[in-house]
Amino acid sequence: MGEGIHVAKSTGDHHQRQHNSVVSLSSKLAKTWVTTTIFIFVFFILLLGASLCWLDMFVLGESRIQMSSIFTRNTNKIPLNCTLPNSNTMQTCPLNYPNRFEPAISSSETCPDYFRWIQQDLKVWEETGITRETLERAKQNAHFRLVIKSGKLYVHKYLKAFQTRDVFTIWGILQLMRMYPGQVPDLELLFLCHDKPAIWKRDFRQEGNATWPPPPLFHYCGHRDAYDIVFPDWSFWGWPEVNIKEWSKLSKAIKEGNKKVKWEHRVPYAYWKGNPLVSISRRNFMKCNFSAKYDPMVRLYVQDWMRDIRAGFRGSSLEDQCTHRYKIYIEGSAWSVSEKYILACDSMTLLIKPEYYDFFIRSMVPLEHYWPIRSNNCGDLKFAVEWGNKNTYKAQAIGKQGSDYIMKNLEMKYVYDYMLYMLQGYGKLMKLDVTVPENATEVCSETIACSITDGGLIRQCMDDSLVMSPSVKAACDLPQPYKDDEMKRFLDKQESAEREVEKWTDEYWEAQNKNKKSVVKLYN
Ligand SMILES: *[C@@H]1O[C@H](CO)[C@@H](O)[C@H](O)[C@H]1NC(C)=O
Ligand SMILES: *[C@@H]1O[C@H](CO)[C@@H](O)[C@H](O)[C@H]1NC(C)=O
Ligand SMILES: *[C@@H]1O[C@H](CO)[C@@H](O)[C@H](O)[C@H]1NC(C)=O
Ligand SMILES: *[C@@H]1O[C@H](CO)[C@@H](O)[C@H](O)[C@H]1NC(C)=O
Repeated sequence: MGEGIHVAKSTGDHHQRQHNSVVSLSSKLAKTWVTTTIFIFVFFILLLGASLCWLDMFVLGESRIQMSSIFTRNTNKIPLNCTLPNSNTMQTCPLNYPNRFEPAISSSETCPDYFRWIQQDLKVWEETGITRETLERAKQNAHFRLVIKSGKLYVHKYLKAFQTRDVFTIWGILQLMRMYPGQVPDLELLFLCHDKPAIWKRDFRQEGNATWPPPPLFHYCGHRDAYDIVFPDWSFWGWPEVNIKEWSKLSKAIKEGNKKVKWEHRVPYAYWKGNPLVSISRRNFMKCNFSAKYDPMVRLYVQDWMRDIRAGFRGSSLEDQCTHRYKIYIEGSAWSVSEKYILACDSMTLLIKPEYYDFFIRSMVPLEHYWPIRSNNCGDLKFAVEWGNKNTYKAQAIGKQGSDYIMKNLEMKYVYDYMLYMLQGYGKLMKLDVTVPENATEVCSETIACSITDGGLIRQCMDDSLVMSPSVKAACDLPQPYKDDEMKRFLDKQESAEREVEKWTDEYWEAQNKNKKSVVKLYN
């Protein structure tokens, strides 16, 4: 009883301080209503328009085709051409790939904010450019070298990557080139497929050190103490070994999955399922689970991949995991691909403060898109759940905003646009003659996919993510990179939201402990 009063009191105290975020949340919800109304209105206009078009078809006959042609002009379909000139030759790359394509629809929108980090990530080479010597120093950490020359792509593999990480990473870049023919510049890059970054700042001091600038190494995640260049990971094109479909299909499935259980009917606890063995922090995190002593309002489950593989992955499909009101993100040995899947579910994400970042997380804001949790802190999780269950309207809004961010800003079109701008920015830094190395082979979608005919998920992911024709729409407009003061203001905003939550949390636990002591006294 006393506990209940204390909780109510402490949230009452917070009311004023939370006022601002409440206002912004409710105005956002109001905006959603307005948007919905406008949407319905526009829908009817379109319906009307459609029926008029139908009339046009009879009235205008031929000229109708011209009217609609700007939307359908892209008939340049480039399906996989798996036919071989004769039966005992190797699969080769078609010679008739388009090498230029002017998008018919110029861009009228600015890219999402996370594009503002591209220049930041390349800044360290801004003055010097990337010479042969600088590049080659990255080789010792690379799984493969990728060369793009005159619209063709060549790969020289050095090390075997885990599962099909390298294959799907290269596949992704090939799809980018199908999407924007002629727009990816000549370049040479080295790619690391492990989890952790490899180019640590402490190893490169600018003054009087001959190893400056650091070697450029493409990787899936970054760290504030590393220079690795952050690039989308393979899972956007699929992770067949664990039955994860490519992102455009999976994000649609998760969107549908969000509708299955209404938020208020979801289990009022925080949920996590994954592999605890990949890091110490995940192993510690398992201690936050439900025990006989008290209920931390957290439900953690171990993902046993081997068992799941044997069982055909029944019961572990990501689109069916949006059944709790709160979902937890905790990084693995570095960033985790699960991040986008967890944030895409419209339950509120409890985001355990990560060390490593992928390319899209840096523009997300605590209390707007997720609820921040300190690492190694079970108490933070319990308070977050208590808070959410008392402020369901606000918790729901945070969950929705996080999900909307992912669904909108991580559409595959934007993922490709991000890759395009990153590679264009990187290409500008090349101070070397881009050359195809001796033992590299030309790679195209055909040489990767055609020979895979086992009907399995690898080929399925490739077929599902194949870019069928060049984009009729130009890439979004690149926003200005952060100026130093702007970046500082943004980081301050993120941090002050974290501080705010820490304060509420600490006050809650102080009240709890005081309460516990008085109970103890009563019994003495
Ligand atoms: C497919 O490739 C074969 C062999 O290279 C070629 O003869 C054929 O014209 C190609 N088909 C298309 C549709 O490009
Ligand atoms: C550059 O700095 C790194 C790390 O501080 C050191 O290991 C390396 O020997 C230095 N190189 C030179 C040429 O001073
Ligand atoms: C956490 O607790 C739940 C509920 O008691 C249990 O089903 C689950 O197996 C536990 N998870 C772990 C990792 O021990
Ligand atoms: C290319 O491969 C051959 C044969 O395996 C090897 O002798 C040669 O050193 C390789 N060249 C390079 C640049 O790796």
